[in-house]
Amino acid sequence: MDKKVTVIGAGNVGATAAQRLAEKELCDVVLIDIVEGVPQGKALDLMEAAPIEKHDAHITGANAYEASAGSDIIIITAGIPRKPGMSRDDLISTNAGIVKNVTKQVAALSPDAIIIIVSNPLDAMCHVAYEASGFPKNRIIGMAGVLDSARFRAFIAMELNVSVENTHAFVLGGHGDTMVPLPRYSTVAGIPITELLSKERIDELVKRTANGGAEIVSLLKTGSAYYAPASAAVEMAESILKDKKKILPCAAYLEGEYGINGLFIGVPVKLGSKGIEEIIQIKMTEEEKAALKKSADAVSELKEILKKVAV
Ligand code: APR
Repeated sequence: MDKKVTVIGAGNVGATAAQRLAEKELCDVVLIDIVEGVPQGKALDLMEAAPIEKHDAHITGANAYEASAGSDIIIITAGIPRKPGMSRDDLISTNAGIVKNVTKQVAALSPDAIIIIVSNPLDAMCHVAYEASGFPKNRIIGMAGVLDSARFRAFIAMELNVSVENTHAFVLGGHGDTMVPLPRYSTVAGIPITELLSKERIDELVKRTANGGAEIVSLLKTGSAYYAPASAAVEMAESILKDKKKILPCAAYLEGEYGINGLFIGVPVKLGSKGIEEIIQIKMTEEEKAALKKSADAVSELKEILKKVAV
């Protein structure tokens, strides 16, 4: 393949993302993990599936960062996942240290890469990577909105018994309890769900979406969601690798857009070969604006915690 994507962290999200990237023949994939043998073993296993899955993407595993050199995209999933009862915020100190260290190493070897952050707490980890890489803001992108919107879409499709392909949804804000699903911009075959469902049912689906990560954690008991997070990261990578210019909700560094300054937060962006090529500003009601402001305040708090833990 003429494109190269490195996935840091060969755990559940990382290995699943590697599988999807390869099976879609989007790029060659390098899997890197701190644990000896795991990235090599998973990469070999995926290569052995290739003749059956009919793809010619090369997947290699490594512990050393040299293997990542010259990547077009780096997907960072390294970290510890959330355990039952643990909030995303509890993860901040450990994962900030990991993300900082990883980012420094990959940025030096792939100075032109676009970095997609998956590690939680997402918005705070984007800040860590932005500072540690020294990359321009268009090349640091957080994966959250695509996942949260996919969850909302799945619930809308289940509720109305329609194809998921007919659904479209927008979830903005931070990747946490304060996320901002926008029912007015969420549609089934172009029809806003506000015309198809009662306010009460929409509120239920919104609540389930905001609680989507925790719902999976409580079922799995060990570890957190990974199929949908991996799909979301790969959709973002595909739009960049193919320069598709899809409009997707992603965590982006805002400098005045939506009245927010100096924060990574989920907003609709255009993703192409240059990374974030445009931040799309949509019209919001006063209520929606207030919800986004509340979410931005929660991300600000995380940023303050980051300063305190000073990794
Ligand atoms: N360098 C490289 N890899 C690391 C490092 C490091 N410094 N520290 C940890 N890892 C690896 C672990 O060895 C593990 O294989 O990161 C991987 C994480 O995988 P899992 O524990 O399976 O976690 P996963 O479910 O993939 O979630 C990863 O994504 O959705 C978020 O909240 C989630 O922050 C978590 C991340």
